[in-house]
Amino acid sequence: MKRIFVLFAVFALLFAMAVTVCEAADRVFHIGMSQCNLGEPWRVAMNDQIRTAAEAHPEFRVSFADAAQDNSRQIADVENFITQQVDLLIISPNEATPLTDVVKRAYDSGIPVIVLDRRVDGDAYTSFIGGDNVLIGQKAGEFVARNFPDGCNIVEIRGLDGATPQRERHDGFRAGLGDDPKYNIIYSQSCDWLRDKAITVMESALQVHDKIDVVYGHNDPAAIGAFVAAENAGRENEMIFIGIDALPTPDGGIREVMAGRMSVTYVYPTGGAEAIDAAYRLLVKGETLEKEVILDTIEISIDNAEEMLKRFGGA
Ligand code: FRU
Repeated sequence: MKRIFVLFAVFALLFAMAVTVCEAADRVFHIGMSQCNLGEPWRVAMNDQIRTAAEAHPEFRVSFADAAQDNSRQIADVENFITQQVDLLIISPNEATPLTDVVKRAYDSGIPVIVLDRRVDGDAYTSFIGGDNVLIGQKAGEFVARNFPDGCNIVEIRGLDGATPQRERHDGFRAGLGDDPKYNIIYSQSCDWLRDKAITVMESALQVHDKIDVVYGHNDPAAIGAFVAAENAGRENEMIFIGIDALPTPDGGIREVMAGRMSVTYVYPTGGAEAIDAAYRLLVKGETLEKEVILDTIEISIDNAEEMLKRFGGA
């Protein structure tokens, strides 16, 4: 009798588990993706990766919002996702501090939150996924130190001031230069990550400085904008250009290195595919996510650009 009872209990348990799995498989999960700005190629690539990765999971429906580099608009986008009670929020915040409160509100309301690439303040989110911006900046600094052992004049074209990668890329760069005064940052201005603004910033730098050896752009559009300004002034061969992102796209950084317009750039993975994988592990498999996932970088120079273009699927 006891044996029959145990057998029955085991069957009941297996049945309940099968029903739960089927329910999970049938369920549609609504994911809200709050993008800070779609006017930049790297962000278009991030959304494309999210879309492609989500297509492999029929249970996922992703809604995208574009804040056009406006903090208030991104706050409203997230509020909208909270009202819709999305099953998970992915956010790449424009600036850290202004977005912190609304991200916390989403998280406190029970919505799992994946913060991508740029950080918010504090730790009111489920998981952060992004590159190591201090390390990337440091590698760029070390590249300069290797190539200019006697010192040099540097123009730095920074990203958006309130975005965490901006500060991290600056601090890492200085550390990579060994904080040595022979490496002179003679001009440092923000271009808000935008190529057109970088042209204007570099035009001003060229006007006031006769000797520029290195331009360190906080992203590839900054470095290429600077290159365009230097080329217009007939001075592009006097200096080298360093960027960050290394997209394998036709107008991306890897091809700019191959074309000799940048000396070096650093792969800054968008984390789009990893975010969807994390969403799958959390929502469908019920796993707990790591609080912090740091993605690798690769230095791209003329020596490996062609090979890396192939590896990252560039035509
Ligand atoms: C795009 C972008 C990238 C950069 C990243 C930093 O908005 O500027 O070019 O690497 O954001 O968050």
